Amino acid sequence: MRQEVERYRKPTRILHWVHLVTFCVLFLTGLVLFIPQLGILAQDSWTRVIHRIAAAIFVIAPLIYIPMNWKSTKRGIKEAFTWGAEDIGWLQAAPRYYFFGDEKVMPPQPHMNTGQKMWWFLVIVFGIIFVITGAIMWFAKTAAPAAVLQWMVFVHDIAFIVTGCMLFLHIYLGVFHPLMGSAWDIMVRGKVSAEYAKAHHAKWYEEVVKGKEVKS
Ligand code: HEM
Ligand code: HEM
Repeated sequence: MRQEVERYRKPTRILHWVHLVTFCVLFLTGLVLFIPQLGILAQDSWTRVIHRIAAAIFVIAPLIYIPMNWKSTKRGIKEAFTWGAEDIGWLQAAPRYYFFGDEKVMPPQPHMNTGQKMWWFLVIVFGIIFVITGAIMWFAKTAAPAAVLQWMVFVHDIAFIVTGCMLFLHIYLGVFHPLMGSAWDIMVRGKVSAEYAKAHHAKWYEEVVKGKEVKS
């Protein structure tokens, strides 16, 4: 029988699904506001209302998740912001690994590899930027000076462009890259095969075997 290892616990998987759906809704309703030619779709402001509802869910979900899953949140943040020698190894090996499928060049990786750390970092930093600039546009539309509002729109738009591009990369690497495992199994059941864990996250797999790992 195929041996499996748990990579993401149920609450983490639920948070990921909530963020996946709300982010896509925010992206599409944001696109309607961003591209003037799509203005017809923004008539009667229904896209603005959907944008605000999705934004509220996007923000409330982690506020519920974090206190209930404090240990794994702390571990995730610590991992994403701690860089060491193995990250240099990953950066050097990444072009040959991802473009030419040369698996031998990649040094053993922990639970999160450097690319995943960069995505986590981006999600946290730009998530905060979205919330601050979005909240000012939402709640201080009449109170804030016009120049401040213009800056908020500008920064919100930059965050939209950067995270939009990086999301395509995240989806490509997570789902379509030939070296990756079954995205469905990871996202829905939180599981990967033991061979996949050994090949892609050897350092983490060692902890799993010793029963020492903290689950995300
Ligand atoms: C998470 C918290 C967020 C909040 C509170 C928020 C809030 C807002 C608000 C209030 C507006 C102005 C809408 C209007 O003109 O009436 C807006 C515009 C916009 N939002 Fe968000 N948003 C959030 C996240 C996002 C995300 C994740 C994306 C895309 C990935 C996004 C993309 C956009 C875009 C492109 C615009 C149009 C700006 C323009 O007029 O050029 N927003 N947002
Ligand atoms: C259609 C959209 C998405 C797909 C298909 C997708 C897919 C995946 C998959 C397969 C993984 C597991 C990777 C692994 O552990 O090997 C993952 C992890 C993760 N996802 Fe997503 N995701 C999507 C959207 C999002 C969004 C919108 C966010 C944030 C707002 C997000 C944040 C994360 C984070 C922080 C991780 C853990 C770090 C990493 O593995 O990169 N994902 N995603």
